[in-house]
Amino acid sequence: MATPLRLGSALALVTGAGSGIGRAVSVRLAREGAAVAACDLDGAAARETVRLLGGPGSEKGAPRGAHAAFQADVSEAGAARRLLEQVQACFSRPPSVVVSCAGITRDEFLLHMSEDDWDKVIAVNLKGIFLITQAAAQALVSSGCHGSIINISSIVGKVGNLGQTNYSASKAGVIGLTHTVARELGRHGIRCNSVLPGFIATPMTQKVPQKVLDKVTGMIPMGHLGNPEDVADVVAFLASDDSGYITGASVEVTGGLFM
Ligand SMILES: NC(=O)c1ccc[n+]([C@@H]2O[C@H](COP(=O)([O-])OP(=O)(O)OC[C@H]3O[C@@H](n4cnc5c(N)ncnc54)[C@H](O)[C@@H]3O)[C@@H](O)[C@H]2O)c1
Repeated sequence: MATPLRLGSALALVTGAGSGIGRAVSVRLAREGAAVAACDLDGAAARETVRLLGGPGSEKGAPRGAHAAFQADVSEAGAARRLLEQVQACFSRPPSVVVSCAGITRDEFLLHMSEDDWDKVIAVNLKGIFLITQAAAQALVSSGCHGSIINISSIVGKVGNLGQTNYSASKAGVIGLTHTVARELGRHGIRCNSVLPGFIATPMTQKVPQKVLDKVTGMIPMGHLGNPEDVADVVAFLASDDSGYITGASVEVTGGLFM
């Protein structure tokens, strides 16, 4: 018997959809039947993701024409608001699933970190999630729709990491924001959860020196870095009704690192 599509009636907005985890999430949600609004700062990368959504292996999911690409900088309030307006105009409804994957690193040790590197990382990783979550929640509440909001944090937000005061603070902030949103929006039928990936093989971790990756890999009980698809599997679960009574959770996808 064919497995039913878990997200057959969903519209999913994915930020950071042009690369790594955001792209894998977009592919996975489309396979589960969702129409995907793929957003990235890099509009061409978002369009490439949408092109992939109709590709091989997606025959059972939402049809190729069901998806659309959007260019936006999530750290700008006006851009985040316009993004939600454009998505609603394009699909005639607000997104019922919102996955914030957009994120950056600007690594430096505390003693040398510039104010600009601090501000930039907080602006994209934390303020960006605030802006997208707020705009999406306003659209959902005003139209009386239920939803699932999933914010990509990091295990580093829980345990810290050398050279990442800005990044770890932004990711810890995402966990706190998610707890509060879950408390405020539960009565509107809107769930909000965060996912804490460990070390996942994407363009972001390609910037990490190999000797650091080798050291980290040695500490991972599963013995290898994760794949973006490992994170996408968990996001699909949190997006679906299979997680209908889960809100305010921080789900670690780390291969056991820092358990
Ligand atoms: N890769 C890992 O090991 C890892 C671990 C923990 C958490 N994360 C988090 O997962 C998320 C995705 O990371 P990834 O590894 O796929 O990285 P990535 O660099 O492959 O993808 C990030 C995407 O975000 C987009 N982006 C950056 N700034 C943006 C902005 N202002 N507005 C809109 N889009 C913007 C980029 O263009 C890019 O397409 C990030 O939030 C990251 O912090 C990654």
